Amino acid sequence: MENEVNDIVLFFGRFHPIIVHLPIGFLLLGIILHFISKCESFKKYAPVVDFTLFLGGISGVIACILGYMLSLEGGYNEDAVMLHQWFGIGLTVLSFIMLGWRRAETKNSSMVSGGFASLLILLTFTGHLGGNLTHGSNYLFQYAPNPVRTIAGLPPKINKTYKKITNIDSALVFEDIIQPILDARCVSCHNEDKLKGELLMTTFDHLMKGGESGAVIVAGNSISSDLIHRVTLAPDDEDFMPPEGKTPLSKEQIKLLEWWIDEGAKPNASLQALNAGPEIRDQLEKYLSIGKYMTILNTPIDPVKASIIEDLESSGFMVSVLAEKVNYLDVSVKPGIQLTKKELETLKKAKDNIVWLDLKNSGIKDDNLSILSDLPNLLKLRLDHNDITDKGAAHLTKLTRLEYINLSFTKISDQAISDLHKIKSLKKVYYYNTAVKEAGV
Ligand code: HEC
Repeated sequence: MENEVNDIVLFFGRFHPIIVHLPIGFLLLGIILHFISKCESFKKYAPVVDFTLFLGGISGVIACILGYMLSLEGGYNEDAVMLHQWFGIGLTVLSFIMLGWRRAETKNSSMVSGGFASLLILLTFTGHLGGNLTHGSNYLFQYAPNPVRTIAGLPPKINKTYKKITNIDSALVFEDIIQPILDARCVSCHNEDKLKGELLMTTFDHLMKGGESGAVIVAGNSISSDLIHRVTLAPDDEDFMPPEGKTPLSKEQIKLLEWWIDEGAKPNASLQALNAGPEIRDQLEKYLSIGKYMTILNTPIDPVKASIIEDLESSGFMVSVLAEKVNYLDVSVKPGIQLTKKELETLKKAKDNIVWLDLKNSGIKDDNLSILSDLPNLLKLRLDHNDITDKGAAHLTKLTRLEYINLSFTKISDQAISDLHKIKSLKKVYYYNTAVKEAGV
């Protein structure tokens, strides 16, 4: 138990993952030097092998002691710790044996080499077991191609994939909403390899079973649930979850957890079965970016190349990204520039990324408006103060995502308005100072 161990011991224990690199480095160097010193031209390194083995052994002893101290902290899978511990001790002992053997008079060189090969295997395996303890046993092969994963004895699935929820009523509350939240924020410490607080959060059953101090969820009562208590504490409280400055749950995520617990913490209920009220539905749609919150901006896109941005800028446009880490573009014409077909064509190079386009007073003509119909993701378009007529506006009906358009101070009439009606996504149309009559609207 954590509290029974002296803090100083735990303090030193945390140095194990750093110090452990010393024996790894020394022993690896010793192994390399041993084998290359068999070549005539590297023979001079042979005497150094003993010294590196000695350093490897000594630092190995220190790493073993620190490792033992770290294990007292608890929170790791005990079997995995034991295995790693005995391999580590074995490795350290073997490095001293090799040292003695090399120095002994009666050495058989091929057996010594066999010993070094064993040392290498033991070193690799011990390191791997240790890595599993810190990163989880799936870490190394998480992104490996499936055949490699099969050899490593892992199931073929590379990443946990979640069903993309498009219709909120069919969503299973635990599986589609709650578990993904826990996976993203909690499971890195509460999994089979790292059982922090003896709490496993990888499945519904484990979650409900609770941790070292019993159940963490009281079905029907979020206020008495330790899990909710922990995530709603002040972030600097030592019981706050997730600890150590890890990204906390958002307000929406906490609300959803509370709601699911208050509704009975059921494993398989759908949203419909739980009688979600309008507020929760709205919250969910917002959280999942679906329903009325779905926009192209929630769909990830690669950034455009820097050379394309340069092309756009030299064609008379100003370009900026819509927001940090969002690769969609806000493009507007530089003041005083009159665009021709050639310059407008450069927009097509970034056609999927441009979502806002401001061509106010840019001299754009009806014929060139057809170029804009090749920008499928346009949400906002300003064409005001241009000599555009209904004929040009008709090209815009292909912009199926358009939400906002400004056609003030143009020559459009009622016909353009009735054409624009075909764009279902359109929310705002500005037509101040045009020939549009109220009747047409
Ligand atoms: C960085 C690792 C880490 C992360 C991430 C983490 N926890 Fe923990 N958790 C711990 C440790 C360590 C303990 C045991 C010490 C303690 O009880 O405070 C613990 C204990 C708990 C306990 C108490 C278990 C019991 O029975 O005593 C709960 C509940 C809990 N965590 C919930 C969560 C939730 C919910 C999340 C995600 C929002 C989360 N944890 C994320 C490390 C973590």
